[in-house]
Amino acid sequence: MRPEAPVTIRLEDYKPAPYKVETVYLDFRLMPTATTVDARMIFQRADGTPIGTPLVLDGDELELTGLSLDGLPLQPDDISVAPDRLEIRTPPADRFELKIQTKIDPSANSKLEGLYRSSGTYCTQCEAEGFRRITYFPDRPDVLAVYTTRIEARKSEAPVLLGNGNPVESGDIAGTDRHFAVWHDPHPKPSYLFALVAGDLAKVSDRFVTTSGKDVALNIYVEHGRESLCDWAMDSLKRSMKWDEDTFGLEYDLDVFNIVAVSDFNMGAMENKGLNIFNDKYVLADPETATDQDYANIEAVIAHEYFHNWTGNRITCRDWFQLCLKEGLTVFRDQEFSSDMRSRTVKRISDVKLLKAHQFPEDAGPLAHPVRPREYKEINNFYTATVYEKGAELIRVLKTLLGNEAFARGLELYFSRHDGDATTIEAFIACFEEASGRDLALFARWYDQAGTPLVAVESHYDKDAATLTLKLAQSYPAIKGQRKAKPVVIPLQFGLLDSKGQDMTPSQVDGATVEGDVLLLEKAEQTVRLSGLNEAPVLSILRGFSSPVRLDFDQSASDLLFLARHDSDQFNRWQALQTLATRELIRLTKAARTRARLKPDAALVDVIAEVLDQASADPAFCAQALTLPSEQDIARELGQDVDPDAIHKARKCLTAAIANAHMAQFGNLMNQTASGAFSPDATSAGKRALANRALAFYAQSDAADAADRVAAAYHSADNMTDRIAALTQLVNQDLPGAEKALAAYRQRHSTSSLAMDKWFHVQATAPHDTCLDQIDALMLDPLYDGTNPNRIRALVHAFAAGNPTQFARKDGRGFEFVADIILKVDPRNPQVASRLLTSFRSWRSLEECRAIEAKKALLRISDMANLSRDCREIVDKTLK
Ligand code: TRP
Ligand code: ZN
Repeated sequence: MRPEAPVTIRLEDYKPAPYKVETVYLDFRLMPTATTVDARMIFQRADGTPIGTPLVLDGDELELTGLSLDGLPLQPDDISVAPDRLEIRTPPADRFELKIQTKIDPSANSKLEGLYRSSGTYCTQCEAEGFRRITYFPDRPDVLAVYTTRIEARKSEAPVLLGNGNPVESGDIAGTDRHFAVWHDPHPKPSYLFALVAGDLAKVSDRFVTTSGKDVALNIYVEHGRESLCDWAMDSLKRSMKWDEDTFGLEYDLDVFNIVAVSDFNMGAMENKGLNIFNDKYVLADPETATDQDYANIEAVIAHEYFHNWTGNRITCRDWFQLCLKEGLTVFRDQEFSSDMRSRTVKRISDVKLLKAHQFPEDAGPLAHPVRPREYKEINNFYTATVYEKGAELIRVLKTLLGNEAFARGLELYFSRHDGDATTIEAFIACFEEASGRDLALFARWYDQAGTPLVAVESHYDKDAATLTLKLAQSYPAIKGQRKAKPVVIPLQFGLLDSKGQDMTPSQVDGATVEGDVLLLEKAEQTVRLSGLNEAPVLSILRGFSSPVRLDFDQSASDLLFLARHDSDQFNRWQALQTLATRELIRLTKAARTRARLKPDAALVDVIAEVLDQASADPAFCAQALTLPSEQDIARELGQDVDPDAIHKARKCLTAAIANAHMAQFGNLMNQTASGAFSPDATSAGKRALANRALAFYAQSDAADAADRVAAAYHSADNMTDRIAALTQLVNQDLPGAEKALAAYRQRHSTSSLAMDKWFHVQATAPHDTCLDQIDALMLDPLYDGTNPNRIRALVHAFAAGNPTQFARKDGRGFEFVADIILKVDPRNPQVASRLLTSFRSWRSLEECRAIEAKKALLRISDMANLSRDCREIVDKTLK
């Protein structure tokens, strides 16, 4: 039997729900393999729904064991039942009560959607469509109801019983070994925010008093013995709560806020109302097992999920096409939070790097989609860098366009007008139009057009007229099957540097709207004249990366060097260096393909000396400035006929040249790591980042003691950041001592799966010919678990996304390996398989001999008859 082709869901087909749900009462009798769910729901016919319209509820692999309507059983003729659908043919005219009993097997649930077990703990994941795996329901975000949850379980198996909202009742069930708890959430919510947790968990508690005096109990639940790893997460939570009050006037709205860390989770974390559930890698940290990056991630994800309480929960999405309404805005909010907690520029640099590394290739490949997609087959495939990261950039564009004040007024209007709503991007934008009095039609287009706009810049200075003329043009890449894109509004933050590096202000600007230092590009082409400039300025454009665009600007190397030294915008100082390095790496890559001798550019190697001179003033920034574009960055810039081996060679050559030219400084700096007791704060982390950048260069220099010093750094490290940095160099550069360090690491960290993930990751990303054999061996390591998403990501996804020379091997073995794993994982966990599959998205930009091998692997996947809907959608698009 051939499975039906998955249906396409379209935004234009949206219709309001015919029936509303007022209240939901859920009673869970938890049993490992046979859990009973009794649901009692009050339905209400919506205005405009003809009486007698059938009620159709969603299900997914459900077994119906009981059903009644207004207390009476339903006859077979009245209903139609399937595992994925329950229809009541002629419901009563207005309000009615439906009772549904379903039976589910949480232990057999390997998809990690719906109710499942992780290390024995019962937990749920309902976004986007997991609730329908628990009971039949109108499982769509615009059906908001008030939920009460009763949970019953064996006391010994699950002493902790958690639900959404506030606890109302709990107790023992007399004469049995079972107990129960009842939770009530007064805030109407969509089903995707439902959650329950039951298990034998330890609790770390604290409290937070809101501005209006509400005393909130904060709890983090983890496996026993991990209590000491929760301090940073708890601290991050309290800072998030305070920050949201101070910055947006948003307070928490329940008596308790619970966080649970589980070790089997498909994504990062989930914002279930009052009961956030986290992938434990975004909760647990101590200096022994977590890096500075882990600390920063935990801070950001804790904040992100907490901020969803307003942007997502109090105001939710009308349908899944509006996903960016909550995700883009919430990412923007967590980015702002982290900027306030740390260095704003360094945070901006890392966000832009992330955007370019993940979102740009997505937008340039077969999986490109608008920030608000118009169609999907599997919504889980649309939790993407475009929806999240580009979505956040659009909020930033909006803020730049309107200015801080009007932006704040717009947000305030949004929160007051739409509290309690399931709404849309149009409604969101309307708030900013009203609050600012501006027409945002050209801004709104950003949400509907896929692809990264290209902004072409030509500049000409006329000395006699004291005028700089800028010819600006914007264009979207042509995307098959999509209508031609229209111009959008692109705010370009800019500056003009005089010969001393000071900012100049033009006396007049013609041809574009300029507000402060922001120039608006609003047409396909614009010629802008900036006059009153008595000397030739150096243009600093797209400061702070004010719009998510690519620049086509043939700025001279001397201008870029000047900007790298003098730009008052620190972001663009970093960008100028990156642009220079990218150009040089592209030149070297081309040379490597002709087997010419590679000779790196002296000016670029020299300017590093100046970066190093400023190292102590701002270590975190300096560490960023000392990070060369990645191999993937270079591949993306090349865009076609990519030869990863040539890129690898080019990057290695430039790194060695820089390392050898400044060997003494690097040797010196690599010891100047943060001193004293470990602290995860941004200043200490910045010092470690710089020391470890220096270590990486030193490891790649010709210094006679390089291998010894890196090995020594490994063995003397007293925190994970320094330890993993040294291990990475030992392994990547294949230095003597690598084997010994790997063995020592395994020994030391064998009881921490999260620390072991880093061990798998380092080996999976080693750019060696033997890497795949190594991975084969690692998969047999008893510490590897091929069913755990974090382990799969640490080994297989790390390889596919972070080891370009080995993944794209000419003999096709890299692609074959990843395809094998995808096919193995897909039947168990389609979400994880489909994520893995996205690492093939840039296959067409590879040189032909490699692209042929990638296609073979993709076709093998595509030929599978029983592929999940998730993988089917991705593989079809990738091959199209
Ligand atoms: N809403 C979650 C977030 O952004 C994302 C998420 C968690 C998710 N688990 C999921 C999305 C499972 C799809 C499927 O914080
Ligand atoms: Zn989110």
